[in-house]
Amino acid sequence: MRIALSTGGGDAPGLNAVIRAAVLSAVNRGWEVLGIKKGYAGLLGEDEVIPMTAASVRGIAHLGGTILRTTNRGNPFSYPVNLPDGSCVERDRSLEVIENARKLGIDALISIGGDGSLAIADQLCGLGMKIVCVPKTIDNDVAGTVTTFGFDTAVNTALDAIDKLHTTAESHDRVIILEVMGRNAGFIALHSGLAGTADVILIPEIPYDINKVCEKILARGRSGRHFSIVVISEGAFPKGEGPATLGKSLPGQAMRVGGVAERLADEIAEGTGKECRSLVLGHLQRGGQPTSYDRLLAVRFGGAAVRAVADEKWNHMIALQSPHIVTVPLSEVLRAPKRVELDHDTIQTARATGISFGD
Ligand code: F6P
Repeated sequence: MRIALSTGGGDAPGLNAVIRAAVLSAVNRGWEVLGIKKGYAGLLGEDEVIPMTAASVRGIAHLGGTILRTTNRGNPFSYPVNLPDGSCVERDRSLEVIENARKLGIDALISIGGDGSLAIADQLCGLGMKIVCVPKTIDNDVAGTVTTFGFDTAVNTALDAIDKLHTTAESHDRVIILEVMGRNAGFIALHSGLAGTADVILIPEIPYDINKVCEKILARGRSGRHFSIVVISEGAFPKGEGPATLGKSLPGQAMRVGGVAERLADEIAEGTGKECRSLVLGHLQRGGQPTSYDRLLAVRFGGAAVRAVADEKWNHMIALQSPHIVTVPLSEVLRAPKRVELDHDTIQTARATGISFGD
């Protein structure tokens, strides 16, 4: 048996722990393992395919990033191809991926990635490839699993920032706005904001009204609290508008969103007369050592992925359905993306404890 591993999309703390657990589980079964570098680039002659042994994964479980490298411009169905005149077009190179995997004698692929990678895997399975997926995202927006590794680490990074911002905001009677990741889903803002006792949490699932945000801050002032902490997802937006896009995205890459904290700081300053500061936490949330929770989840996912290959669970994703690790068909996972449920207990408790969602 010869399997291959690849990591695709934005990185998340815990990827290396998945890789280590999968490689060791496979090697200990007597299987051969190949590592495809940089998503599918290794299968398209644009990066390497390397043999992986126990030695390749020594000492990596605690490290952020991915030793296999990754890209969010690697969809083989619309792969960016540079032309001699300097322009770039997107081409379908999926059949090359399948053919090159066949030439390398790859019997099965474990694809570790987020919603984009899962959709690609589903399409490749439709063309006959044998793939088991492991979900990865700091945004926690993959359906079918209670959570993904990387999310807990990102929430802890955001929480650490909120705790630190609290003391300086209070000392100066300022409003501090923290922008966290979350393109389409507000889980990082909601969980870190609730745990960090933010005053306002703005998420893509609840378009906000700036007047309501200002009202909340002014009401706090009237009750003697002259500072406020606002946590906003990069994908949050005011009622009647859409997410703010950020700069230029490269060919083959989704539009980037964000830059919302600075605008919000200006608007809150104008609406309340208070001094405001903003901070974009950005890629700090994607780096660093995975927390114990994420590391353990990643190890469990890696081991389960090899068992799923042995059980020929093609076109399935490994998932946490507490307290068990299970496999879920990709068709089910891809039916609808996971978003914050508006009647979830976290939202109810946030509202009951006085947190405003600006609605
Ligand atoms: O999908 C995770 C995520 O962290 C999003 O929240 C964010 O919009 C995106 O990745 C940014 O990715 P990059 O800067 O790597 O393009």
